[in-house]
Amino acid sequence: MSGDYQLVQLANGEKTMFSVSYGEKLHPGLGPRAEAELLYVRQLAVCERLAAADGEFVIWDVGLGGAANALTALRATREIPGQLRIISFDNTHAPLAFTLRHAAELRYPQGYETVLAALLDSHRVAFTNGKLQVQWEFHLVDFPAWLSGVKNLCQPPAIPHVIFYDAFSPAKNPAMWTLPVFANLFRALDPQRPCALTTYSRSTLLRATLLLSGFHVGVGHATGLKEETTVAANDPGLLAEPLNARWLERALRSDSAEPLNEPVYLRRPLSPATAAKLRQHPQFS
Ligand SMILES: C[S@@+](CC[C@H](N)C(=O)[O-])C[C@H]1O[C@@H](n2cnc3c(N)ncnc32)[C@H](O)[C@@H]1O
Repeated sequence: MSGDYQLVQLANGEKTMFSVSYGEKLHPGLGPRAEAELLYVRQLAVCERLAAADGEFVIWDVGLGGAANALTALRATREIPGQLRIISFDNTHAPLAFTLRHAAELRYPQGYETVLAALLDSHRVAFTNGKLQVQWEFHLVDFPAWLSGVKNLCQPPAIPHVIFYDAFSPAKNPAMWTLPVFANLFRALDPQRPCALTTYSRSTLLRATLLLSGFHVGVGHATGLKEETTVAANDPGLLAEPLNARWLERALRSDSAEPLNEPVYLRRPLSPATAAKLRQHPQFS
C-alpha cells in the first residue's frame, strides 16, 4: 500500500519502520539490526550451520518487509566461504521500496543498496558477499496461498535449512498464523534436511499450532521486549530447550491455546480433541 510505511525512532535511538495499516512497528524492541541478529541469525546458528553445510545453504525469509533480517544474515556470513540462497516472501513491494528510499536513516541497508534495487526490480539477484556466493529471490506472493500449492509448482523452491518467520502479529495478521499454514509449511520441508524456524512470538496458541503441524518446539532467546521467543524444528536435535510437560500442563489450562483454523483471530482454550492430540505429540510422550 502506498504511504503505508513511516520511520519511527525507538527509545534506544534506533530507527525502524511502522506500518500504518497494521498499526505495528517492524522491529519494535531493540530495532532492526540487534533484533535480527539475536532472534534470527544467532538463534538459528546460521553462521555455524552455513559453515558446516555440504553445498548450498537455504534460508526462507517469510515476511521480507524491509529486509532487515536477510541483510543481517548477509552481514554475519561475509567471511564464510560457501553458497547461500535466500528465498524471501512478501505480498507487497512497499516496505522494500521504502527501505531503499530511507537507507541513510535506517543504516542497516547501507552497502547493499545495489543488491536491494536489483531484488526490487528483477526479484532475483546473484552476487558475491565477501567470501560467500549468494542467490537471493523475492517471491511476491500471498504466502499462505503460495504454500498451499507448493507441491504443484513447475519449479519447486529449494527446501530450507532455516526459516525466519516474521509476519505481523496473530491479532493483526491472523492469515499468517493458522494451523493450515504451518501444516503446509511442515509438509514443504524435507525430513532428511534438518530445518529450524524461529519467530518472535512465545504465545501458547502459536506453540500449540506449531506442535500440531508436526514440528518439535522449544523456548527461544529473549530479545528486547520479549522475555522469550520460539524455535521450532523438524529435528528435535536442533532445539536447545524443548517445551516440557510443565508447558503442556499450562497450555491445557490456558484460555488462549486453540489453533486458528481460519484467518480470524480468536482466543479460545484447547478443545478436548486438540488437547488429546497435543498430549500424544512425540515431544511429550
Ligand atoms: C513484521 S514485517 C517483516 C519485517 C522484515 N522481516 C524485516 O526484516 O524488515 C511483516 C511482513 O509480512 C508481510 N506479509 C503480510 N501478510 C503477508 C502475506 N499474506 N503473504 C506474504 N507476506 C505477508 C508484510 O507485508 C510485511 O512486510
